[in-house]
Amino acid sequence: MGAGIAEVCARAGLDVVVHEVHAGAAGAGRSRIAASLERGIRRGKLSATERDAALDRVRVTTDLTELADRDLVVEAATEDEKVKVELFAELDRIVTREDALLASNTSSLPIMKLGMATARPHQVIGVHFFNPVPVLELVEIVPSLLTAPQAQSRAEGFVTEVLGKKVIRAQDRAGFVVNALLVPYLLCAIRMLESGHACAEDIDTGMVLGCAHPMGPLSLADLIGLDTLTAIAEAMYADFKDPQHAPPPLLLRMVEAGLLGRKSGRGFHDYS
Ligand code: CAA
Repeated sequence: MGAGIAEVCARAGLDVVVHEVHAGAAGAGRSRIAASLERGIRRGKLSATERDAALDRVRVTTDLTELADRDLVVEAATEDEKVKVELFAELDRIVTREDALLASNTSSLPIMKLGMATARPHQVIGVHFFNPVPVLELVEIVPSLLTAPQAQSRAEGFVTEVLGKKVIRAQDRAGFVVNALLVPYLLCAIRMLESGHACAEDIDTGMVLGCAHPMGPLSLADLIGLDTLTAIAEAMYADFKDPQHAPPPLLLRMVEAGLLGRKSGRGFHDYS
């Protein structure tokens, strides 16, 4: 999702620095942005000149200290609390502007824990995008108990006025609004497949043709990534202790097998 967030910021005219963990990931991230811009051209959403200008505004680095002068940092690391907490502690040391917003694209982890990893929890906020970021209009804004109201209004201004997306607000509870509704549904579809109730194609076709969803639940799980879906479900289970959020064994086995959905070429469907 980091590539999608960088792309929409660059398309909105912002100067963007993307931090990646190693050179391979940096190259892949840049290619992903270029490929999505290309798709945007094919769909008539932007011109070749706008694509070139957007790419010129994106600098990819493996050196986190290059984020020092940023007004806004949007963290989109893997959905792992330890990784994110360490990253926020490091960003707190690196980012020099006291009024910089430190935002997280987490789907489910407590914003409070990320805020408390810094000495400026009043500047830490959840800014949660949806996949594919260049296409989906929604962003959830999630203040923690300590987020300053000015930080929230600046985050909302960035999303609505700069990016032209629509904001909804949620309390700092795992899953916020959308995943609190979506994840139990996706897990239910996986349990339906696991129990032999129906096959993957029919489950997806049922929701596409029967409810006019743009894609079925198993295709959507593949788009999100089965590792990410598992991490979100586990975070929701940890927050609410409700069995409806427990990842089904089939999902766990698929992640263990490296069948992660679109990004690995195979999940509930085959993308090779
Ligand atoms: N840049 C700009 N616009 C683009 C684009 C790009 N790179 N790629 C596609 N588009 C636009 C197209 O122009 C088209 O717009 P119009 O309707 O205005 O013509 C629209 O996006 C749809 O594109 P396509 O026709 O090419 O693709 P599609 O019809 O096959 O749709 C899809 C693909 C957008 C993924 C659609 O199936 C969809 O919306 N699926 C549901 C996705 C979803 O539910 N995401 C939420 C996941 S949950 C999440 O992200 C949160 C979390 O925490 C896990």
